[in-house]
Amino acid sequence: MSYTYNRLLKKIKQKDVPQHVAIIMDGNGRWAKMHKLSRSIGHKYGVERMKELLRVSKDAGIKYVTVYAFSTENWKRSSQEVGALMKLAVDFINRDIDEIASEGAKITILGDISALPEETREAVEYAVKKTEKNDELYFNVALNYGGRAEIVRAVKKIAEDVKNGVIDIDCVSEQTVSDNLFTAGMPDPDLIIRTAGEFRLSNFLPYQSAYSEIWISDPKLLWPDFAGKYFLKAIYDYQQRDRRFGAVK
Ligand code: IPE
Ligand code: IPE
Ligand code: MG
Repeated sequence: MSYTYNRLLKKIKQKDVPQHVAIIMDGNGRWAKMHKLSRSIGHKYGVERMKELLRVSKDAGIKYVTVYAFSTENWKRSSQEVGALMKLAVDFINRDIDEIASEGAKITILGDISALPEETREAVEYAVKKTEKNDELYFNVALNYGGRAEIVRAVKKIAEDVKNGVIDIDCVSEQTVSDNLFTAGMPDPDLIIRTAGEFRLSNFLPYQSAYSEIWISDPKLLWPDFAGKYFLKAIYDYQQRDRRFGAVK
């Protein structure tokens, strides 16, 4: 790793690192266009960055990493692109799951995997099963994830519990809602990173992001170019912020 990388790593380790970082990996398509390649190839390079991100997170001591891999809205893309993304997930698991598992990462899927093509769903279920006992790094993959759909699902689960007398309606709290999201039991993201310059969350973790710090890259910094040093820079910037949570310090 480069001088900049090591210098930044040393710097950020002098302070508290965020416990949970969530990333909107955006800009694969623009990157592909810029390089005169197909969008699918852009996604392929994007997967390589995602793998690197796991190594860097471990270096930095970040415990929870969540990546936005495919949204409920991404089904609107061409069947060719959707197919390529689903296939990429299978290839990634086949090729890298042993290494990820041996490094102690636990994979959790945020989203409805029942709607995925069979091959992808099976690969994903295998990856989750294979890593279920790990606890070095929690790697959440938002796959067919939509934040509003997640809230609707939680509301239904809670309504069911109330109906069945499992919980009393007066006991439904913010915690109850958290406990019924895909991220149940995990801390909310401290930091949300979005590459490629768009100032929006695109239905990513609406409930969990209530107090997240947001870091948006320059529009020219596209996900396939998001090297480890940029990730560390985002964490460094996060550490300079004053998180007040509504209070006066
Ligand atoms: C993000 O890159 C990856 C996914 C949504 C799967 P995009 O494919 O959205 O890239 P742009 O925004 O078109 O450049
Ligand atoms: C968000 O990016 C979804 C993922 C990164 C998987 P999009 O590219 O789909 O978001 P919009 O369409 O620009 O809001
Ligand atoms: Mg995009």
